[in-house]
Amino acid sequence: MNTVVVSVGGSIVVSDEPNIDYLKHLTALLNRLSQHFKLFVVVGGGKIARQYIALGRDLGLDEDRLDQLGIDVTRVNARAIAYLLGTSNIEIPHTTDDVIRLKNPVVVMGGTDPKHSTDTVGAEIAEKTHAARFVNATNVDGIYDKDPNKFPDAKQLKEVSIDQLIAQYGTKWGSAGKNIFMDEPALAIIKRAKIPTFVVNGKRLDQLECAIRGQPFDGTRILV
Ligand code: UTP
Repeated sequence: MNTVVVSVGGSIVVSDEPNIDYLKHLTALLNRLSQHFKLFVVVGGGKIARQYIALGRDLGLDEDRLDQLGIDVTRVNARAIAYLLGTSNIEIPHTTDDVIRLKNPVVVMGGTDPKHSTDTVGAEIAEKTHAARFVNATNVDGIYDKDPNKFPDAKQLKEVSIDQLIAQYGTKWGSAGKNIFMDEPALAIIKRAKIPTFVVNGKRLDQLECAIRGQPFDGTRILV
C-alpha cells in the first residue's frame, strides 16, 4: 500500500471558527482513502496559532518560545482531527521518528520543534516513509506567481520546479507564524528526497481527493 502524507493547513481546519460540516467531510474522506493508502496527516495551527504568537511577540518572547506556542496549537488541532477521525492515534507524537512507527491506517501529527512549520514535519515524514507523494492542502488553489490574497490578477501555476521555488524563497525559516504556501525548510527536504509534491485547496474536497490519489487535480505540481 502506498504512503501519502497530507499537510492540512491550520487555516482550513480553523479559520475564524471550526467549520464542523467541513471537518466531518474532510475526516470521512481521509477515512475512506485510508482503505487504499497509508495516510499521515499533519495538522497546522492556523489563526489561533498566529494569535498566540502575536500575543507572545507583544510580551517580548524570543522566537523559539513563539514557535513553541504555535506547536502547542498544532497539537490541539491534531487531537481534534484525531477525535473526529475515530480511527487514528489519539495521542499526538512529538517526533517524526515516533509517528512513523504507528500502525493505524490514518496517523495524525502536529508540530515538532521550533524553526519550521508543520509543512517541514510533513516533508520529513514523506522522506522517512518514502511516501509516494506529499500533498499540501492549503486555502488557495495551489501556488501563484504572486500572493492571490493580495493581488486579484495573480496567476495559478500548474507546475513549478523545486529549483525555481528555492531560487525565489530560499530554504531558511523566516519567523514564527509566517504564512507562505509552504515553509522554506520543507523545500530543501522535497529537493533532497525528490518527493513528488502537490499543492491543492484543501477546502475543495474533490480536488484534495484527486491529489491524494495521484490523479489530475486543480492545483500545482512541484517538479522534483
Ligand atoms: P503551522 O504549521 O500552522 O504554520 O504552524 P503556518 O504556515 O503558520 O500556518 P498554516 O497552518 O499553514 O496556515 C504555526 C506556527 O507554529 C510554529 C511556527 O512558528 C509556525 O509558524 N511551529 C509549527 C514550529 O515552530 N514547529 C513546528 O513543527 C510546527
